[in-house]
Amino acid sequence: MVNVWIIYNTKHGNCKKVAEEVGEKLSNKYDVKIKQITEIKPEDLANEKPDILIVGARIVVGSPDRKIKKFLSRLGKLLESPISKAATLYTHVLKWDASFAKLPKILKENNIAENICTDFLGIKMAKMKGPAESGQDNKIKVFIEKVSEFISK
Ligand SMILES: Cc1cc2nc3c(=O)[nH]c(=O)nc-3n(C[C@H](O)[C@H](O)[C@H](O)COP(=O)(O)O)c2cc1C
Repeated sequence: MVNVWIIYNTKHGNCKKVAEEVGEKLSNKYDVKIKQITEIKPEDLANEKPDILIVGARIVVGSPDRKIKKFLSRLGKLLESPISKAATLYTHVLKWDASFAKLPKILKENNIAENICTDFLGIKMAKMKGPAESGQDNKIKVFIEKVSEFISK
């Protein structure tokens, strides 16, 4: 069975919620593990080396937050070879700006993933601390479809 790891960081719990929703939907078809980066070490992930890594980031000052970037930089140094596939998701409160989507570049620069899904998920919060704006559920559904296609390629 395809082994999927979802890692994320959260302050107010919204990125966790999105990661868990995505994980729950993907677990119908795949073997899914979901971890907050405070619960695991990059070594754990490097040892297990999933078939696909999904990274969830909260946007802070126009960029994925510092903690997830630090985790990814450490992970990159530990992996002997890149993970085959990766996909990305974000939570944000401002109007989406393409410059927020820096995770693919970070994953490439740190040699973490060979192929990165071009479709990503961006969930907009109604307020800084959440909850998500209404009407975001369909985005999750579309993301699941796109990621499933990407995994099966
Ligand atoms: C210091 C700070 C800076 C932020 N900067 C941005 C930003 O530049 N763009 C944006 O859309 N959201 C920004 N946010 C909102 C966060 O993205 C939002 O609170 C977060 O995604 C919620 O996720 P969490 O509940 O998992 O922590 C910022 C939040 C904080 C606390």
